[in-house]
Amino acid sequence: MKTVEIKPNIYWVGAIDWAVRDFHGYVTPNGTTYNNYLIMDDEVTLVDTVKYDFKRVTIENIKSICDPSKIKNVVINHIEPDHASGLAKIMSIAPDATIYITSKGKKGLDRHFDTSNWNFKIVKTGDTLKTGKYTLTFLETPMLHWPDSMMTYVNEAKLLFSQDAFGQHLATSSRFDDDFIECASQFELDHAVVDYYANILMPFGQLIKRKIDEVQKLGLEIDMIAPDHGLIWRKEPDKILQTYIDLADGKADLSVAIIYDTMWHSTELMTLPLVQGIKDEGIDCKVIKLRATPMSVAITQFWKSRGCLIGSPTLNNILYPSVAEYLTHLRGLRPKNRIMGAFGSYGWGGGAVRDAYEEFKRMKLEVVEPGIQVNYKPSQEDEDTCYEFAREFARKVKEYHSTFE
Ligand code: FEO
Repeated sequence: MKTVEIKPNIYWVGAIDWAVRDFHGYVTPNGTTYNNYLIMDDEVTLVDTVKYDFKRVTIENIKSICDPSKIKNVVINHIEPDHASGLAKIMSIAPDATIYITSKGKKGLDRHFDTSNWNFKIVKTGDTLKTGKYTLTFLETPMLHWPDSMMTYVNEAKLLFSQDAFGQHLATSSRFDDDFIECASQFELDHAVVDYYANILMPFGQLIKRKIDEVQKLGLEIDMIAPDHGLIWRKEPDKILQTYIDLADGKADLSVAIIYDTMWHSTELMTLPLVQGIKDEGIDCKVIKLRATPMSVAITQFWKSRGCLIGSPTLNNILYPSVAEYLTHLRGLRPKNRIMGAFGSYGWGGGAVRDAYEEFKRMKLEVVEPGIQVNYKPSQEDEDTCYEFAREFARKVKEYHSTFE
């Protein structure tokens, strides 16, 4: 796709990856983009590079604007390979360019490339680079979401290059939020934002809030936010900032996700009265079978819902493997502000429900105990118990949800 001028003399020169469906284990049914930006000023400056596979796309894009050997500065906001693996190619074309990067970023690049002949300028929060008409101010954002991460603010353009933050995995011919909403829908965009946040940024909510607060205290006026994935926020950049604050504060729908797996359908049968009980308390409910659903989809549904019931059969006295894997993955994302319960069938000695609650407590999530275990297949009496437990769980979800309003 052709380059797009996003501000006077500042161009999107990135690549659209329509085909990627597995982004290091995170499913991307809508593909993604690797955004990078070229500032055509007295000193030509490239902000972020591109995934190695797409280096030709970015180089051709740059060539359509200027001779790439004229690049004087390369800002590396983040070294993860989806943005920086194309750097060696850029440096082979512009060998005299200076790389502006955090000290942790430099250490990371040293592990990935032979950097011995590259020029570096290590930057910290508040450091600036004058490219001519424009002034770039760097803002370190460690652990947002890697130790090396930073953002770059273009003072005169009121433009924030935010690297991964505020991104979305959306391959689209639209470059801006308002274009996309017109061509597709607000719903798709909102979903993409939450999906991205849940799977990548969930552990860093408090850090995000502090960083947004820092930006606001610096008095930086933001007219546009240009992330490294997906759409550029030009219509309402304040709105995406507020969305991130809300997500960090634990915003969720008043709904329940039932996430389960099953061996011989007994645990699955338990989901039916559970759904009915939740619905009869007036709460929406979605059901996800783990072996039929990509992990990242189940993570997003968990994050969208205030309450979650985890269902697992007992296998060899512990959790069923897919459920154990899911809960381990979830624990790494450090979820907050959610309320949990567990259910499952067992044959001769239980264990799965007990283990699920142990995991919830390790994650410091609210729980409704003791959950439900049924022997082999649920009887009518077990189904009635599931139904009553679901109603009680739904009432607790409503009560807990009200503390966030
Ligand atoms: Fe899009 Fe952390 O890389």
